[in-house]
Order: sequence, then structure tokens, then C-alpha cells
Amino acid sequence: MHAIRVRPDHEMHWGECPDPQPAPGEVLVRVHATALNRADLMQRAGHYPPPAGASEVLGLEMAGRIVGVGTAVAGWRVGQDVCALLPGGGYAALAAVPADMLMHMPPGWTYAQAAALPEAALTAFVNLYVEAALQPHETVLVHAGASGVGTAAIQLCKASGNPVFATAGSAPKVAHCLAMGALQALDHHAVDFAVELLRAPGAVDVILDPVGADYFERNLQLLRLRGRLVMISTLSGAGAALDLRVLMGKRLRVIGSVLRSRALPEKVAITRAFVERFWPAVLDGSLLPVIDSEFAIADASAAHARMAANLNIGKIVLHLP
Ligand SMILES: NC(=O)c1ccc[n+]([C@@H]2O[C@H](COP(=O)([O-])OP(=O)(O)OC[C@H]3O[C@@H](n4cnc5c(N)ncnc54)[C@H](OP(=O)(O)O)[C@@H]3O)[C@@H](O)[C@H]2O)c1
Repeated sequence: MHAIRVRPDHEMHWGECPDPQPAPGEVLVRVHATALNRADLMQRAGHYPPPAGASEVLGLEMAGRIVGVGTAVAGWRVGQDVCALLPGGGYAALAAVPADMLMHMPPGWTYAQAAALPEAALTAFVNLYVEAALQPHETVLVHAGASGVGTAAIQLCKASGNPVFATAGSAPKVAHCLAMGALQALDHHAVDFAVELLRAPGAVDVILDPVGADYFERNLQLLRLRGRLVMISTLSGAGAALDLRVLMGKRLRVIGSVLRSRALPEKVAITRAFVERFWPAVLDGSLLPVIDSEFAIADASAAHARMAANLNIGKIVLHLP
């Protein structure tokens, strides 16, 4: 098959690669579309190796058609259109996927939309509803609200009736967050989000934060009693000072979370719990991936450059031949 290979100089090229060999509990999928994640940029730069046993090929999600079914697979057949989270291997013509990780391609969706669903939606879901145990009517702050994960998080909060605030880095991104249902969206280059949010709504119960160091102190300031801060990345840096008295006084929880390195049974449980709770939102259109742009897989470098420059609103999709 063909797949994206990363050369030692970190350039990408679309070339020959061995076919994946599906295990008995896996299906083989002809990949029609995959989508970018920030982690792809880090892996390509040599800073984020795939977990043990995962494909070395970039790509954490895909949508396509089943072309082979393992002997231990029940309930799936050749010809069905599916999408799934992957530990790697999405930038490739074929992917071997554990059957338990599969989601149906929602009716009427394109491969591009289905490829843009798994990583953003499952990351937002597990961190808000499982890690932070978001309760009805609790208030949420989503940082990087116009990112792939941020757009999914805002939509999920809207679907579950939780008031949501967002930060983003430009006027069009702020406008997009508001259009998706954020009560207030703040341009973090123009204002201090903590000052603004403390002035208006006062405080939040749960914060989803990929920014890290720069926001840490202000995040703790913003959380109300028993608030939860879920750290999903360190875009501004990883070191931060912590006044333990703030943590104790408000009985706060700071939760660190990654999705990719979790064991398969945990990822299956997350996928199934997401489908059980939010598939109605998928089917009624309230959870619909925001597609920023679409590229041919051979132009993956241009797609990566767009993400690296923080230009995307929502997901960047790659189409396979
Ligand atoms: N832990 C996990 O399991 C997990 C899973 C998936 C993703 N993630 C993380 O979640 C984040 C979003 O992922 P994605 O693929 O959706 O990313 P994305 O679409 O590339 O969005 C990232 C956005 O973060 C903002 N940003 C970048 N550097 C920043 C800085 N120094 N300060 C403030 N904002 C900054 C930029 O938006 P603005 O222009 O609005 O500032 C950028 O567009 C990434 O950091 C990713 O690594 C974590």
C-alpha cells in the first residue's frame, strides 16, 4: 500500500509501505480520509513516538470502507463505511482497526466529516464527562475553543446543556466559538480572559486546557469551589508554579489526561460510552465536525504548515486517492 513516510530530515512523502496485517479481532479498512492532530506535528518532528505496538505511520483517526474482516469479528461486514480513533497509521491507504473501536459513518456524512470526528470528539468527551465528571448545568471554559478539540468540546457542552465559555486567538475564531453556542468568547491576544470572566460570569466549574504554563495560575483563580482543571497539552510550556493553598482552599482538582497511550480496553470503553451518550447529537446534527480545510494526502506538508501557524478553525482533513 501507499502511506506517508517521514524522512530523517522530517519531510513527508507518499510512498510504498508494507500492508498492515489485521489480527483476528480487527477489520481492514480502505482509508478514504484522515484528519490532522497537533500530535502529528510533534511525532513528525521526532518528539512524540507512537505507543508500543502502534503503527509508525502518522495519523490518529480515519474514515473509510471495510475491505476485510478478522475471524473473531462479529457484527461488522465488508462494504460498511466506518470511522475510528487510531493509535497511529491513519495517513495510509489501509488501516487495521480493532472492531470494538469502530463507529458507523453517520448517515449523510462525507468521509471527510467522519474522519474529523473521532479524536476531537473522544478527547472532548473523555475529559469533560469522564475525567472532570461534568454535571448538568455546571459551567465550562474551553481554551483554544476554535481548535479541533475545542470546537467539539463547545458542541458537546451545548448538547448537554452546560453553559460554555471559550478563548481563542483571533476575531474570526472568537466569532466561530460564539456561532457554535459559546456564551462568551475571548480573544486571548486582546484581553486577559481571567479578568473578563471574573468580571462577568464570575467563575467556572470545569476548564479544558491545552495551553498549560501561561494559563495555569489564572485557571486556578477562575475555578469555583470543587472546580476541575483538565490539562490536555502544554502548548505554552510545561512548568508552572502552584500555590497549594488555592488548591486546598477551593478543594480543586487538577487532572492530567492523554488519550493515545491508554490501553485498548480503556479506549474501547470511552468510544462505546461516547456513542451511547452522544450518538443522538451526531444524528441530529448538533455534533458535526467543523472542517477548516481539505488537502490531498500528497499535500500533507501544506496541511501541517497551516496547523503549525495556528490558522485552522476546526479540523484539517487529508483525502486519500
Ligand atoms: N491529551 C489528549 O488526550 C489530547 C488529545 C487530542 C488533542 N490534545 C491537545 O489538544 C490541543 C488541541 O488539539 P487540536 O488537534 O484540536 O489542535 P489545533 O486544532 O491545532 O489547535 C491548537 C490551537 O491552540 C492554540 N494555541 C497554540 N499555541 C498556543 C499558545 N502558546 N497559547 C495559547 N493558545 C495556543 C491555537 O489557537 P488560537 O489561535 O485560538 O490561540 C491553535 O490553533 C493540542 O494541544 C493537542 O495536543 C490532547
